[in-house]
Amino acid sequence: MAAEQTFIMIKPDGVQRGLIGEVISRFEKKGFYLKAMKLQNVEKSFAEQHYADLSSKPFFGGLVEYIVSGPVVAMVWEGKSVVATGRKIIGATNPLASEPGTIRGDFAVDIGRNVIHGSDSVENARKEIALWFPEGLAEWSSSQHCWVY
Ligand code: PPS
Repeated sequence: MAAEQTFIMIKPDGVQRGLIGEVISRFEKKGFYLKAMKLQNVEKSFAEQHYADLSSKPFFGGLVEYIVSGPVVAMVWEGKSVVATGRKIIGATNPLASEPGTIRGDFAVDIGRNVIHGSDSVENARKEIALWFPEGLAEWSSSQHCWVY
């Protein structure tokens, strides 16, 4: 099985609106494997580090304030093409453009409250996983993958 991994974060609005189970269910039912998960509040400096590539954007300050406004659920999911497929499950960044059937298409209307983050490349997934889970990930035995692969 391909060992591609992605970093997924349910943002504070997704947590407050009771969407944790819904998000996990969509990734789990697709056939991806949960490798790590934690509910936590993040410090401003940590949020700034996570979104460092966007520091010059006009919305950067508001985005950081939003992420630190309540607990988030940080997760790592693994599976074949999980980065690109995860982005499809999530839907377009702006909920106004996201298709029904995607998480943002079904549950969000405003880009500043778009429920969930997913890594946009394998390289960024590696960086984000290292930042959020320096303690490492859980192991699945390969024999447990036979129902999906
Ligand atoms: S950009 O400008 O193309 O680099 O941005 P984009 O790739 O579309 O989005 C990167 C992340 O910034 C968030 N974003 C915003 N947040 C708040 N307000 C506004 N206007 C806004 N525009 C973009 C967007 O949700 C992306 O966050 P993540 O967490 O990666 O989904």
